[in-house]
Amino acid sequence: MNIRPATLADQLGMQNCNLHNLPENYTMRYYLYHALTWPQLSFVATDEKGRVVGYILGKMEEEPSDGVPHGHVTSISVLRSYRRLGLAKKLMTQSQEAMRDVFQARYVSLHVRQTNRAAIGLYRDTLGFEVHEVEKGYYADGEDALGMRLTLS
Ligand code: ACO
Repeated sequence: MNIRPATLADQLGMQNCNLHNLPENYTMRYYLYHALTWPQLSFVATDEKGRVVGYILGKMEEEPSDGVPHGHVTSISVLRSYRRLGLAKKLMTQSQEAMRDVFQARYVSLHVRQTNRAAIGLYRDTLGFEVHEVEKGYYADGEDALGMRLTLS
């Protein structure tokens, strides 16, 4: 398994991975916007044939309401048969480091469904994120989101 920065050629593979794993889907234009604006912040995990088996789509918050430069994880997922191998942890770490080193991000934020046990385990227990707020009815089906943050030292 290999982890490397995402390229424009990976966008279809990333979208495919997203469609398999999450109800929150994005237009190709949104993937391209990330790739063109913050090419340092998105990464892919590939198998031995070069197929995308996981990705992280990262960005900088463009107009932070608190005035503090910070990154945001738009989406992360790993194909089912490649889970629990540490790929998501590595994808998160790489993107977080680039947010800090390239864009001077002070912290990273994300939203996660409050029932998403695996992702909350990754963020809270493995990476040290804390719940910053609960956003009622954030998702299209009405589920609440946990707004989580991690300070980047
Ligand atoms: N249950 C509990 N904890 C888990 C689970 C699980 N099923 N999966 C991962 N974790 C936690 C554990 O603490 C794990 O460490 P350990 O294996 O040493 O116990 C740690 O996360 C690291 O696990 P990884 O192997 O790095 O995680 P993985 O590569 O399996 O990917 C992910 C985790 C991305 C959440 C995966 O389950 C997935 O793709 N789920 C579907 C898509 C999804 O929910 N994405 C997140 C949406 S929120 C957002 O995008 C901002």
